[in-house]
Amino acid sequence: MDQEFWDAMYTNVDFSWSGNPNGALVDEITGLPAGRALDVGCGDGSDARWLAAQGWRVTAVDISQVALDRAAAVQTPHEITWRLLDLAKEAPAETYDLVSAHYLPILKSAPDTAKHLVEAVAPGGRLLLVAHDTPAEGAFHGHDGTEFPYADFASPADVRALLGDGWTIETDVKRDRALKANNHHVDIILRARRDA
Ligand SMILES: C[S@@+](CC[C@H](N)C(=O)[O-])C[C@H]1O[C@@H](n2cnc3c(N)ncnc32)[C@H](O)[C@@H]1O
Repeated sequence: MDQEFWDAMYTNVDFSWSGNPNGALVDEITGLPAGRALDVGCGDGSDARWLAAQGWRVTAVDISQVALDRAAAVQTPHEITWRLLDLAKEAPAETYDLVSAHYLPILKSAPDTAKHLVEAVAPGGRLLLVAHDTPAEGAFHGHDGTEFPYADFASPADVRALLGDGWTIETDVKRDRALKANNHHVDIILRARRDA
């Protein structure tokens, strides 16, 4: 699941993007005071545009330049910074009041991904991590037919275990998705606040 894989997926798969933000993002962030937000694995940019419309100053990063180019091409009245970044290899340059990642693949073989997510949260800021609720066995199926076993990916519980003292868990739930995607019907949602 490197840059080549994701660029090929965004090039070859014919998406009809809804343009809507993820339901868990809207549920968890509506009403919170806006600040600086980082959307990791921003894909089509719908979440970044929604955050910007709520008053957040948004930096949106993705491993795929193809995704970023498409996201940046969508008209929005709000300024968003779009940046190429492989979170497995590189930490964000700044810290943020919100670090949001929806369905970001966090491979157990790349433990720096989760570390970089957590470290990008500023004091008093929040981490919002949303993942598919997957069974213990089975696999994601890539656009090219590659199978990626569920067991190879870190879960929100694995990321929660990294937080330790100095964090308050605000949300740790499984919730039905309003918008079902493929066979993914349930989200695991972790929202945690770093002490100020
Ligand atoms: C399943 S898609 C989700 C996209 C979007 N967040 C959404 O909810 O529709 C995962 C996204 O993470 C990006 N991605 C995968 N690995 C990444 C990494 N190591 N660093 C940054 N982005 C990554 C992919 O290019 C893709 O856009």
